[in-house]
Amino acid sequence: MVRRWSSRWRSMEILVVRGGSVGGSDLGHLCLRFHSALISATKPEDLFVAGIDTTSSTVEWAMAELLRNPNKLAKAKEELCEVVGEDAPLEESHISKLPYLQAVVKETFRLHPPAPFLLPHKCDEVVNISGFQVPKDAQVFVNVWAMGRDPTIWENPNMFEPERFLKCEINFKGNNFELIPFGAGKRICPGLPLAHRSVHLMVAFLLHNFEWKLADGLTPENMNMVEHFGLTLKKMQPLRVQAISVKDN
Ligand code: HEM
Repeated sequence: MVRRWSSRWRSMEILVVRGGSVGGSDLGHLCLRFHSALISATKPEDLFVAGIDTTSSTVEWAMAELLRNPNKLAKAKEELCEVVGEDAPLEESHISKLPYLQAVVKETFRLHPPAPFLLPHKCDEVVNISGFQVPKDAQVFVNVWAMGRDPTIWENPNMFEPERFLKCEINFKGNNFELIPFGAGKRICPGLPLAHRSVHLMVAFLLHNFEWKLADGLTPENMNMVEHFGLTLKKMQPLRVQAISVKDN
């Protein structure tokens, strides 16, 4: 087991989202106070398991979505060229100056959250949500996958449109309940700052240093984007691509 049920109990905010519109104040989000049963990562190796699969599958989904949408890929590359320069090395300080790249990462988390139900929590007391009574001790899952594709929250929810994040201030740091791939509140993923840096840097590095082509005769139209839910939400069919270094030319 990656994480174990802990005997301790702590309180946190669990967010159950239904309805509403992006950026609006009346999102119809219910912010419920639960006391969550803890699943604790107590061993150092747990941190690796928690961090590696989630990060790598996010990078794979981001690249898959960009290859399926060549114009978005071109836009991200163009931004990198302008901000970093064609031959200059990418540095961490560039990330904050790359709004389109940041939007690509947000859009990837919206459509493909690596932990689609977050981690299980447990209700510490009876709670009423919109007329539904959640009994004490009920196990609570937050379906962030469904929230990311809810048409009452997002326009064209099934389309990969990073541009939607250029028009709003939504981030995934636990303040905007439409987008909480890392959870929110006290039990928010402690690896968020590291994951934030790693995912942006990896995607930026891959785009900045290589030209990308789909392998095996695939075209953007016939790519298989089916998801497989194991430890994390991965691509059922691993992305197969051809990377051509632009630095050697
Ligand atoms: C794309 C990257 C990542 C995503 C999407 C992600 C997502 C999550 C989520 C949804 C949770 C559960 C939050 C909840 O209980 O509601 C979690 C917990 C956790 N994550 Fe991450 N994570 C990522 C990367 C990392 C990294 C890089 C590390 C460490 C190096 C890490 C360490 C942990 C640990 C230790 C927990 C359990 C915390 C606890 O028991 O309270 N994660 N993560």
